[in-house]
Amino acid sequence: MTGVLFPQDFAWGAATAAYQIEGAWNEDGKSESIWDRFTHTPGKIRNGDTGDVACDHYHRWRDDITLMRELGLRAYRFSIAWTRVLPGGRGALNARGIDFYSRLVDALLEAHITPFVTLYHWDLPQTLQDRGGWVSRETAQAFAEYADAVSRALGDRVKYWITHNEPHIVALMGYQLGLHAPGIADGASALKASHHLMLSHGWAAPIIHQNSAGAQVGIALNTALAMPATSRHADADAARQLDGRVQRWFLDPLYGRHYPADIVAEYTAAGFLPHGMSFVEPGDMRAIAAPIEFLGVNYYSRSLVTGTTAPDGTIVHETVRPSQAEYTDMGWEVYPDGLYQLLCRLHFDYRPAKIFVTENGASYSDAPDARGVVDDSRRIDYLRAHLAAAHRAIQAGVPLAGYFVWSLMDNFEWTYGYSQRFGIVWIDYATQKRIPKASARWYAGVIRQNGW
Ligand code: FCB
Repeated sequence: MTGVLFPQDFAWGAATAAYQIEGAWNEDGKSESIWDRFTHTPGKIRNGDTGDVACDHYHRWRDDITLMRELGLRAYRFSIAWTRVLPGGRGALNARGIDFYSRLVDALLEAHITPFVTLYHWDLPQTLQDRGGWVSRETAQAFAEYADAVSRALGDRVKYWITHNEPHIVALMGYQLGLHAPGIADGASALKASHHLMLSHGWAAPIIHQNSAGAQVGIALNTALAMPATSRHADADAARQLDGRVQRWFLDPLYGRHYPADIVAEYTAAGFLPHGMSFVEPGDMRAIAAPIEFLGVNYYSRSLVTGTTAPDGTIVHETVRPSQAEYTDMGWEVYPDGLYQLLCRLHFDYRPAKIFVTENGASYSDAPDARGVVDDSRRIDYLRAHLAAAHRAIQAGVPLAGYFVWSLMDNFEWTYGYSQRFGIVWIDYATQKRIPKASARWYAGVIRQNGW
């Protein structure tokens, strides 16, 4: 042992999301979600891929838990499909839907794997979208009811709850750029949606606490560690802007500081706030700042930015790709030190009681060789370097309590379909065979030794 040792009880985990792995998109009373609708719309997803079958986890979950047990996972982060539990979006509970998750939770506990449940990993019931989706305040109310239903049903056994996964990506990709479901491209809608997402988080947190004794509640945010490409003032300002939009816009309200004034001013100038912040109603900011036990951090890469000043004096940021760097198959720069910097920054700026890295991982396409072995040594290097960065953060005082590799298995990577493979377990989509990659064996060893 050379001495990278993690704290006792460190939650060593892997993560997935319902739409990306389950398949069974219309079985056992499940209704259509916005991702079902989006992937069934020609031209939206690479190769016309859909999540109709995905990894068929809905039928193979027992085998998947056996696999997790073999790897020695201590924790498993998965998400619940709202459309299985409340097919109408609101109202009547679908017993078959909730039973699926109930059995999954029981089997995880039996395997000594702690379930971390994400309530919303992007698959809104289409019926709620038809009434406005996250642009409508009603959806926040519906989410609170959904959180109530799920935490009542599972709260006796599930003690770690993540309300939302990456609300910024939902707002940006789903409502501003239209590249994700529901495919809306309107800046004003995106800001309204982001407020309602955060409001629904704030409304859900106390409900979960009430239904699940001793529950720890958090939210998983995506991060764009924004760094200026040079020491030029415009680049520093561009980094401030990107950080403000991606991080502070969510973190400041979450920790009771209201929306960041510089970004409100910029969105106003950009015409994204035609009615000002009128979607913020009395009591909303207090609700969003509801006490939570942890912050979830999804980290993949940094964003290096340059800034140019537009004729009207506003700053426009652009991300640049350093030429010397190493990139994953997603085209994301490998930048492990960013995880250290980010964790320290979050700790010193916001002081969350606990942090979990709720996602970290890399897309590499290494396939089985003639012997059926997947030698994904680049993924091992990626994970080792990021875990080393996480370890340094712990030594610097960051209360990091666990780490979830994205992902347990190759799966449906949103607009990229099945062309990107993030798993530590290979999926042969033709046969649904699971093959643990070299990285899975390596990760199992890290867990066993609590380090390396
Ligand atoms: C994150 C998502 C996750 C996965 C990874 C690669 O933004 O939360 O579902 O797609 O990226």
